[in-house]
Amino acid sequence: MLVSAKEMLTKARQNHYAVGQFNINNLEWTKAVLLTAQENQSPVILGVSEGAGKYMGGYTTIVGMVEGMLKELKITVPVALHLDHGSYEGSLACIEAGFSSVMFDGSHYPIEENVEKTKKLVKICAEKGISLEAEVGSIGGEEDGVVGAGECADPNECKMIAELGVDMLAAGIGNIHGQYPKNWAGLSFDTLQAIREKVGEMPLVLHGGTGIPEEMVKKAIDLGVAKVNVNTECQLSFAAATRKYIEAGKDQEGKGFDPRKLLAPGTKAIQETVKEKMQLFDSIGKA
Ligand code: 13P
Repeated sequence: MLVSAKEMLTKARQNHYAVGQFNINNLEWTKAVLLTAQENQSPVILGVSEGAGKYMGGYTTIVGMVEGMLKELKITVPVALHLDHGSYEGSLACIEAGFSSVMFDGSHYPIEENVEKTKKLVKICAEKGISLEAEVGSIGGEEDGVVGAGECADPNECKMIAELGVDMLAAGIGNIHGQYPKNWAGLSFDTLQAIREKVGEMPLVLHGGTGIPEEMVKKAIDLGVAKVNVNTECQLSFAAATRKYIEAGKDQEGKGFDPRKLLAPGTKAIQETVKEKMQLFDSIGKA
C-alpha cells in the first residue's frame, strides 16, 4: 500500500538521514527503484513530473502500475508516490488519481498567491492523509521545459509557507536541476542554516540531487534536509549502459533486440545508482 511521505520524512529529519526521491519514467524505472528499496530495506519516494505523467499514460495508469508492483513484487518498505513540481491543477488531478503525496510548486507566483494556493491544498491533503511539499525560491536549471534561475529562498517566506501546515519544504539554496555548470558556486549553507532556524523541525527537501559533491549532500542532511531528489543521474546511468550494449553490437546477437534484453543493462544501472544514493543518504535499513 502506498503511504504518505510524512512519517518517513519526520523520522529521517529526527535521525539525521534522508529519503531519496527517485523520478520514474517508465516500467523499468519503477521496478528498478522499488526492487532496490526493498533489497536495501530503505523507505523510498517515487517522483513523477507532470511531463513524465503524460508520457506514462496518465496519473491513473501510474497509480495502477505502482500499486500492482507493490503487490506482485512483495514490496514491504514504505513507498510514497509523489507528484514532482506540480501545478495547482496537476496536484488536484494526482490527489484524485490516488497519489499518496504531492508537491505544489508555487515558487513562480508572488508569495501571496503561493500562500493562497498552498493553503487550499493543505486542507485537501490533510483530509485525505496525503503529504504535501511546497516550494519557496525557484530551483534553477531546466526540468520539463520549466527553467528556474537557481535562487536562494527568503527564510521569512519559508517560515510563512511552513506554518501553513505543509509536510516538507523545498527551498532554493543555490541548487539546480540537471548537471551543475563548472563554475557553480555550491550550496549556500548560510541560507540553509537561516531557513532551518525559521522552520524548526520541518523536513527540508534538496532538489537537483544529481552531481552535488557528496560532502555537500551530507552537510545539507546534517542541517535539516530529509529528502533528496534525484532524476538526471539515473537517466545518465541508464543511457550509458544502453549505449554500451548497443555499441558492443549485443542487440544484433541472437535475440538481443528483445526489449527485455535491450533494456536490462540500463535497468541494472539504475539499480546501482539508486543504491549508491541510498548509501549516501544513509537510508539503508531504515524501512
Ligand atoms: P536532478 O535531475 O538534478 O537529479 O534533480 C531532480 C529533482 O530535483 C526532481 O525534482
